[in-house]
Amino acid sequence: MQKRIGACRAHTNIALIKYWGKRDQTLFLPTSSSLSLTLNAFYTDTRVQWLDNLSNDLFYLNGEKQSKEETNKISRFLDLFRDELGINGYAKVESYNHVPTAAGLASSASAFAALAGACRESLHLDWSNEKLSTFARRGSGSATRSVYGGFVEWNKGTSSVDSKAIAIDDANWDVGMVIIAINKAKKKVSSREGMQLTVATSPFYSQWVEQSEQDLIAIKEAIANQDIQRVGEIAETNAMRMHATTLAANPPFTYFEPETLQAIASVQALREKGFTAYYTIDAGPNVKVLCKASEMSQIKQHLSETFTNDQLITTTPGDALTRLDHWEYED
Ligand code: ADP
Ligand code: DP6
Ligand code: CO
Repeated sequence: MQKRIGACRAHTNIALIKYWGKRDQTLFLPTSSSLSLTLNAFYTDTRVQWLDNLSNDLFYLNGEKQSKEETNKISRFLDLFRDELGINGYAKVESYNHVPTAAGLASSASAFAALAGACRESLHLDWSNEKLSTFARRGSGSATRSVYGGFVEWNKGTSSVDSKAIAIDDANWDVGMVIIAINKAKKKVSSREGMQLTVATSPFYSQWVEQSEQDLIAIKEAIANQDIQRVGEIAETNAMRMHATTLAANPPFTYFEPETLQAIASVQALREKGFTAYYTIDAGPNVKVLCKASEMSQIKQHLSETFTNDQLITTTPGDALTRLDHWEYED
């Protein structure tokens, strides 16, 4: 009998053109297309094992058995595969985050890309990464893009089968990022709740969608030209426009903390010193600084005047989803 176990590693990604809102909550269809950079420093390893003696799915995160609520999220995701393939049975899912969980550092992106990949391996599916990205999407929108390395576009598509990611550029040129981890604690408003409230109540929302479409066209051209300054300029304004929509929501909210503004000021100061450095911020207080890989350590050095060394993480672009052969044995 074929073994029914599979394991994968997926890296997180940081959106440069943000996904911020769904047009279909169940199918995870976004209101606009988005574009990201996969990061080498942060990733999730996940193993899926289908076992005969189970009467429900099991989920372990970082070695700890998870609550019913968290396990249910995994079960809903496994249902997508069970339904598609017409199979029964339960699985033990074990996952390790090499990224803080739910802190605005995109753990849901690497998590569901790794889980989708481990499902593909454990069920011996002959699926392309494009198809797999449509399944990752149903776990968390940002996971659609973590199937690939480098710069990745998630095309909003017209339906569940064509709302998928494609690789745009391997980012194997002078591209780097310095992460300023301001607060690694779990955020109060999840991305899911935050975007839903914004879509429903922010009067700025429709303008955000329109502007984002223009930004996407412009950033793709800048990437094709390997023009990191232009990529940074577009990413920075796109991020701030996303955050502006939350301030206008009802009730209003923000993911910014006092140190977020301090980090923004530090990036502006870096530019005044002549560095190519632009910030982007996801649904959390942490700031990510897009820069040239060749200037990354100098930039870190300057930022260490304001932030502690363990708050500063440098990274180069990350790779696509990979299989973890050595973890695919039954214990
Ligand atoms: P983040 O900014 O980290 O992506 P989100 O609010 O989008 O924050 O998603 C966090 C949620 O993703 C967690 O509460 C959990 O439900 C899920 N998650 C995170 N890591 C994993 C993992 N390794 N396996 C499965 N689900 C995970
Ligand atoms: C601000 O993918 O975490 O990071 O689809 O509801 O799971 P769900 O949300 P999630 O949202 C990410 C929002 C963002 C922007 C982005 O990654 O594009
Ligand atoms: Co997320």
